[in-house]
Amino acid sequence: MPDVAVIGGGIGGEHIKAYAELPDRFRVTAVCDVNRDLGQRLATQTGGRFTADIDDVLADPDIDIVDICLPPAMHVPVALRVLEADKHAIVEKPIAGSLVEADRLVAAEARSRGSVFPVFQYRYGKAFDQLAALRTAGFPGRPIAAAIETHWNRDRHYYANPWRGSWDHELGGAVLSHAIHAHDLLTQHFGAVAEIAAVLGTNANPVETEDCAAISFAMANGALATSSITLGAASDTTRMRLVYEHLTAESGTAPYAPGTDDWHFAARDLTRQAEIDAILQDVPDALAGFAGYFDAVADAIEGRPGREVTLADGLASIELVSAIYHSDRSGQRVSLPVDRSLPIAMSLRR
Ligand SMILES: NC(=O)c1ccc[n+]([C@@H]2O[C@H](COP(=O)([O-])OP(=O)(O)OC[C@H]3O[C@@H](n4cnc5c(N)ncnc54)[C@H](O)[C@@H]3O)[C@@H](O)[C@H]2O)c1
Repeated sequence: MPDVAVIGGGIGGEHIKAYAELPDRFRVTAVCDVNRDLGQRLATQTGGRFTADIDDVLADPDIDIVDICLPPAMHVPVALRVLEADKHAIVEKPIAGSLVEADRLVAAEARSRGSVFPVFQYRYGKAFDQLAALRTAGFPGRPIAAAIETHWNRDRHYYANPWRGSWDHELGGAVLSHAIHAHDLLTQHFGAVAEIAAVLGTNANPVETEDCAAISFAMANGALATSSITLGAASDTTRMRLVYEHLTAESGTAPYAPGTDDWHFAARDLTRQAEIDAILQDVPDALAGFAGYFDAVADAIEGRPGREVTLADGLASIELVSAIYHSDRSGQRVSLPVDRSLPIAMSLRR
């Protein structure tokens, strides 16, 4: 069973709870945070040791996986060192603040015995297994159109944490930090993005980075999608409507774990609804959120890949954010992959 060190005890505390749901798959043996009280409390919870020093974690030969839950600007520098130490790196979103940095991670992973697993825990849960079962049965047909909403409430209390809302530390705004999950789901279920047209704004909070966006996607398979983003909503809702040739799949509004929602799967041809309902009924409950995500990482490390989030997925997420930012700033539609000679490839910063 792999030994894990968790670095950063904010969302890292939620990761620790999920590891505790998988006691046969992971052992958290160290917690690292410069906030000693927080780190010590979490270490006690895990039964592992506490350290305030990242070097201490990297030098520990017994640690197999370093789970990086640090503020965004620290992800790439720490992940590169984890890979140099031939350990696996679990990296919270966003994996990087530019395409050039994401490419450096790809090169470092190729040299290392370790792998990078970007955190996209929204992918896991029963509803997505139901969609997969319908796909296996050949039901949905071609993707046609999708609408996704990331309408959350982030106010001054959220931005009191000094790294948030700043180009230097958060590296981007709602497109990079919040809607990145819904966009990952869109590409997972609708395929690669071919072209973007986007308009961004900072309308809800007095911060440097964007907190609203209106984005159009042309997918490589011809499907069209729209994404509406705001951090100025009255409550937190994530909503997805995926329209396929023969089926429309509609989520509820659970903001952080759409896979746990009761989705509505409707046949376009009403006479086929019973076929859908029969397939859905046979899908068992699944691990959702972080526990589902870590379970897939454990499978991959044990030599059964396929369900885990890969560095290629993480790179694709940064490619998409880069295209969205470039479209907003240039006023043009932008094709993917993004030209690496453009300034946006070096830095997402405005
Ligand atoms: N996947 C998700 O749904 C999700 C949700 C929330 C946050 N996140 C991501 O997780 C990351 C962390 O976000 P957060 O909200 O937990 O932030 P946070 O500020 O609450 O936590 C970060 C922790 O890192 C610690 N830290 C900072 N510098 C350190 C250092 N040099 N050594 C050791 N510890 C150090 C801080 O003391 C703090 O406790 C961000 O990238 C964020 O985007 C992901």
